[in-house]
Amino acid sequence: MKDLSPKPGDLDPIETASVDEIRALQLDRLKWSLSHAYENVAHYKAAFDAAGVHPDDLKELSDLAKFPFTTKAHLRDAYPFNMFAVPREQIARIHASSGTTGKPTVVGYTAKDIETWSEVVARSLRASGLRRGDMVHVSYGYGLFTGGLGAHYGVERMGGTVVPFGGGQTERQVQLITEFQPRGIMVTPSYVLNILEAFQAQGIDPRGTSLDVGVFGAEPWTNAMRVEIEEAFDMHAVDIYGLSEIIGPGVANECVETKDGLHIWEDHFYPEVIDPVTGEVLPDGCEGELVFTTLTKEGMPIIRYRTRDLTRLAAGSARSMRRMEKITGRSDDMMILRGVNVFPTQIEEQVMDVPGLAPYFQIELTKDGPMDVMRVMVETEPDVLDKGIAADLRQKIKTMVGVSAKIEVGPAGSVPRSQGKAVRVIDKR
Ligand code: DLL
Repeated sequence: MKDLSPKPGDLDPIETASVDEIRALQLDRLKWSLSHAYENVAHYKAAFDAAGVHPDDLKELSDLAKFPFTTKAHLRDAYPFNMFAVPREQIARIHASSGTTGKPTVVGYTAKDIETWSEVVARSLRASGLRRGDMVHVSYGYGLFTGGLGAHYGVERMGGTVVPFGGGQTERQVQLITEFQPRGIMVTPSYVLNILEAFQAQGIDPRGTSLDVGVFGAEPWTNAMRVEIEEAFDMHAVDIYGLSEIIGPGVANECVETKDGLHIWEDHFYPEVIDPVTGEVLPDGCEGELVFTTLTKEGMPIIRYRTRDLTRLAAGSARSMRRMEKITGRSDDMMILRGVNVFPTQIEEQVMDVPGLAPYFQIELTKDGPMDVMRVMVETEPDVLDKGIAADLRQKIKTMVGVSAKIEVGPAGSVPRSQGKAVRVIDKR
């Protein structure tokens, strides 16, 4: 893989600003954001008043802990547009989450918010090792999902050439990647495995493509998966994080030269990690639930949004802004099996560790009387016929994760493939 470290002049001044400069900027912006929310959104006025706090109570960054959290339920209650802080006419774009249960969550952006978003995605792409003039193939879905359009505007802002493919038509994706020769690809880590398979099916060596960098996110993925993808394509695999409520992709991104966690673009998004049970703010380094406050968003400012994503914060490394560790999982995805907490990423790590297993898996939860049963569906690499594989994986899950699982090893192609975010757990309980 190529050395894609930045050269002098590749970074924006804010990316190398001192921590003190960043904190001062955050304090100014946070005061603005709290007032903007309080004065223009009925929900925040009511919530701050009920908690007995006023935007003027924020004297230093740590005072943010006095302000109430915002949850997905608050956003749903405000459906469709009651969280907007500007008249609807000033909203340039709307996105919405899929809303698996009940109403979707709607988010709105002013023209300036779209500029900010494009800027943070462009910064993420540069952190990933891409530069002005590069062609980037976008396989994130376009539409109400923020992945496609968020990526798209970022590539344009970086000064690149965007190929707005979107999800699906996997054979055709392979054709265009082969013929157009992009340097970068933006896609979910589970869907790139699908694209990988299509390369192999067409007899094209994926290591021989023009791709130098993949920018993967929208779902949890492990370092073991990174190794798998980097080996398969001979390209860097870099993590991009974001959520529609905060802006979309580009809230945080890894730097290709270190790949040691995701730098949060703290000049726009203020992070906290809290104890998910007590709501208490935890010091950097402790694992808990990630909470974000937007610092510059006009259309829909968000104060202390509980993401349900679990991670820990660390000091900056390749950039001065703080990092978050790769997400372990969402608290919603946590399975409790006979008292042991298990995340799909822990199963992913074990699947990747068994020779002969393909990087696809799905977990099914059922009940046997009062007992929860976890079945892990995996499949062998083509042409592998090894009867010991199931026992090997069962043993690894037992020792490393601490739970008993039933393993079902199917033939190549038996585990359902994803076109966007993978469905890791089917809960039949
Ligand atoms: O998934 C935005 C996005 C698009 C991010 C493309 C990156 C790339 P939502 O659909 O609102 O937005 O889902 C947000 O997805 O709270 C996490 O649980 C999960 N997620 C997003 N990025 C990552 C990541 C987009 N890099 C939810 N690692 C978030 C782990 C991620 N989980």
